[in-house]
Amino acid sequence: MVSSTSSTFDFVVAANRLPVDRSVSLDGTVTWTTSPGGLVTAMESVMRDREAAWVGWAGFPGDAPAPFDDGRLRLHPVGLSAEDLTDYYEGFSNDTLWPLYHDVIVPPTYHRSWWNAYRRVNERFAEAVCEVAAEGATVWIHDYQLQLVPAMVRDRRPDVRIGWFNHIPFPPVELFAQLPWRAQVLRGLLGADFLGFQRPDDARNFLRSCRAVLDATVKGDTVRWQGSDDGRLGGSPRVARAAAVPISIDAQGLRELADSPAVRARAAEIRESLGNPQVVLLGVDRLDYTKGLRHRLRAIGELLADGEIAPPEVTFVQVATPSRERVEAYRTLRQQIEGTVGRINGDFSHLGDTAVHYLHQSYGREEMAALFQVADVMLVTPLRDGMNLVAKEYVTARHDGGGALVLSEFTGAAEELHSAYLCNPHDIAGLKETILRAIRDDHEEKRRRMRMMRRQVRTRDVQAWADDFLRALEMAPARPPRARRS
Ligand code: ADP
Ligand code: G6P
Repeated sequence: MVSSTSSTFDFVVAANRLPVDRSVSLDGTVTWTTSPGGLVTAMESVMRDREAAWVGWAGFPGDAPAPFDDGRLRLHPVGLSAEDLTDYYEGFSNDTLWPLYHDVIVPPTYHRSWWNAYRRVNERFAEAVCEVAAEGATVWIHDYQLQLVPAMVRDRRPDVRIGWFNHIPFPPVELFAQLPWRAQVLRGLLGADFLGFQRPDDARNFLRSCRAVLDATVKGDTVRWQGSDDGRLGGSPRVARAAAVPISIDAQGLRELADSPAVRARAAEIRESLGNPQVVLLGVDRLDYTKGLRHRLRAIGELLADGEIAPPEVTFVQVATPSRERVEAYRTLRQQIEGTVGRINGDFSHLGDTAVHYLHQSYGREEMAALFQVADVMLVTPLRDGMNLVAKEYVTARHDGGGALVLSEFTGAAEELHSAYLCNPHDIAGLKETILRAIRDDHEEKRRRMRMMRRQVRTRDVQAWADDFLRALEMAPARPPRARRS
């Protein structure tokens, strides 16, 4: 990475996080590592080799480092103070919006000071975007942390084209209406020309909220609104389109990686170190209450107690990636999960035969690809998930045609991966039956299911997603007049 002087770009991406996080070790050594989460996994492969700017936070509190280049991509850091982190990131983004947008699995917290921080930080992102966007640029804003940025950019820069994509669900209006700042959030989003969602239901929820909360006119997938009441939308009527554009993965890249001799060898090594079990069950999730880990462990614990599965023949590996560790609901979840894993292992493991292998760590891409290859049954059982890229990664990494995917109906992925063993994670008896079916079904049936899912992911990969989104943005109504920058 080299640092360089600032200039402007025709294509600008803004997301809360940059694709890389900076960390400083005790001896002062600075390292940059890949940022966590599906947004970065997907966008990093879309943006690789593009001449563009990426505006985002560099993953540590304090002043922003100077902009620098990673290949042809300009990384433009936005600084977040310790207070911004508490109020904007951990507070409003991850303790208000995240639970509200995920079916209120835990109760959202509403604090006016968090809302003020959210506005303040969104302004900072909007300023940074305007600084790097060339005349008539395409600006692509991402996710729930930056919902006010579209209108803030529109206000300052009527010449640019603005798209926004939501990586997480958009809630039904009956839940969204709880938000004390619901009108301001919708007004912020309506600064975009095109709004992309994971599922048609998410787009519909958004359009229904515009009608119910703003009294906007909605016809088909287009929303019209006279943004006169706060002056933020330039006083002129806004027209925006909202539609589903489901995100995906770099299928070819992962297939090649999974097929490499090093990853195959590592997969064999992992299987060996697990004691060559007949069946390896695997879960890979950020340690988040949306991922259904408690329900999954309940089902596994009962299957062990029933004698339906037992180590060393069957073993369960759960990778639980550290996440948002200063937010109370995440701390509580970690305690519960680790307590449950301890109890299960206490009851059902024997010396040398572990029932549940629990790994609270992050890994490189190669290790993830090897783990996927080892998994005979992949358990993806969130209570709610915008998409869930892990499901798509798993079917792709199993280039040998083996494996089986147990997938929650409440994921965006379930709308595409119809051949998975679909489950309702709230129904523990049903979940147990589905896991057993995925273990015991005959080989040919499993191969048929995996083949269909692999084909789906291969044809609808992340590049197709980005092309679809950018085409929809280009064709959205109300193309702003060019060259109107003051
Ligand atoms: P989310 O965005 O909610 O975290 P996704 O399933 O959509 O969920 O995306 C998670 C991404 O993070 C995937 O690309 C997955 O491979 C990756 N990932 C998850 N856990 C780990 C881990 N422990 N180490 C490295 N990468 C991980
Ligand atoms: C999900 C969200 C992303 C977020 C990621 C990791 O994928 O959609 O916006 O970046 O989780 O969460 P974190 O809070 O660590 O950025």
